[in-house]
Amino acid sequence: MRKKNGKEVQTDLSSLRVLIVDDEDDFRESACRYLARIGFQVDEAQDGEEALNLTVNRRFDVVILDMHMPVLDGLSVLKELMKRDPPPKVIMLTGGGTIENAVEAIKLGSYDFLTKPAKLDELAHIICRACEAQQLEKENKQLKEVIRRQAPTSQLIGQSAAMEEVNRLMERIADSEQPVLIQGESGTGKELVARAIHLSSPLADKPLVVVNCAALADQLLESELFGHEKGAFTGAVAAKPGLFEVADGGTMFIDEFGEMSGALQAKLLRVLEDGSMRRVGSVTERFVSVRVLAATNRDLEEEVKERNFREDLYYRINVLGITIPPLRQRHGDIELLAKQFAGSDWTIATEVLEKLNHYSWPGNVRQLQNAIQRAKVLAEDNEIQLNNLPNAIVDLNLPLAEIPTNSSASDLDTINKMHVVKTYESCGQNKTKAARALGINRRSLYRLLEKYDLE
Ligand SMILES: Nc1ncnc2c1ncn2[C@@H]1O[C@H](COP(=O)(O)OP(=O)(O)OP(=O)(O)O)[C@@H](O)[C@H]1O
Ligand SMILES: [Mg+2]
Repeated sequence: MRKKNGKEVQTDLSSLRVLIVDDEDDFRESACRYLARIGFQVDEAQDGEEALNLTVNRRFDVVILDMHMPVLDGLSVLKELMKRDPPPKVIMLTGGGTIENAVEAIKLGSYDFLTKPAKLDELAHIICRACEAQQLEKENKQLKEVIRRQAPTSQLIGQSAAMEEVNRLMERIADSEQPVLIQGESGTGKELVARAIHLSSPLADKPLVVVNCAALADQLLESELFGHEKGAFTGAVAAKPGLFEVADGGTMFIDEFGEMSGALQAKLLRVLEDGSMRRVGSVTERFVSVRVLAATNRDLEEEVKERNFREDLYYRINVLGITIPPLRQRHGDIELLAKQFAGSDWTIATEVLEKLNHYSWPGNVRQLQNAIQRAKVLAEDNEIQLNNLPNAIVDLNLPLAEIPTNSSASDLDTINKMHVVKTYESCGQNKTKAARALGINRRSLYRLLEKYDLE
């Protein structure tokens, strides 16, 4: 029996394999009998060599290992056992007065040690604890694997010069634990880039906690991020740790970072500066160590100038900055992405590729992905034809000749503007419809309308 959260938990001893390695027959035999009687599966070995042979093909959860044995001593056996995958939990048996050896054994990775003569009930107790530790490690590994498999793949597609630059920057920051600010229009792949940065960082095997500032009202966001004490506000029936505490030691991805209110910006600045934070309604200062990745589709530099965003926070978060170019500036990538989204058993008609290449993609990669998915539903014979594309893309009234081949960013912006205007008008200035047609969310549409003075 062991205690867990105050409740008795029955350990299923019969599934646990224990190996006793000792050259002293009396002790080994009585320990074997005792442990078998209380339910463990027990094997024995008379010396180090026999022990190593036994553990080559059979996995043991716990190994009881005598320090002093002829031929191969306990420490040498321990070193070998630690190379097994997964290594067993090893409990060393030491004679009196050899504390240096015990310390050495712990350094080499043994779980614990017992001095001889060891009491059998004490031995059983330590074995139970070791098994529990082994079990927790196993569960932890399994959970990590489950999470890893569920995470969206972060395969960034793109060979354009613009994306090569993004890849180069990502490689440069791979070893860093500094904050990163990821900027780019809606749907350019900011979240994908954030996940890729996390996966190539030194903290890759620690948690990545994602929070979206646009999805939550201000007060809720504050208590999500920083937690709250019981009674901090109506409805706070129990204390709750914030996401910063959950992410401690790992990474937090703060999406739609530009939407954060002034008060929250101040709180965030403190966490970034010295790791200190307080739960809502608490006077206790807590310390966390969290790497922050932030993404926004606002132009934060502009927001700072207009005093909508704190300058100090902007500089603190922008230690490393990546700006993801809009899709219309990634020559060659549209075709690559379209084919990837279509899948290997699909073809895309040449006229379609032409249209896709000359469209301005205000909703960027997400819009392209949606367009291809929709086209696949409508298409026949696994080929995407012109009539499978949304009108907004096909009707685009821009003969190829009108688009300069070496279009500058500002030309493309004009094209983008024309397209937004046209779509907005053709949707009867209905923002919801226009946003849907453009493949962007309403918030992004508002921003575009603002930017192009259409309100
Ligand atoms: N380079 C890329 N290669 C493959 N898929 C991509 C790429 N960029 C974006 N995507 C896909 O496009 C979609 C939108 O990407 P993502 O959510 O990362 O964009 P975002 O910039 O965070 O958008 P928003 O501003 O709307 O939050 C996702 O499904 C993503 O997998
Ligand atoms: Mg996003």
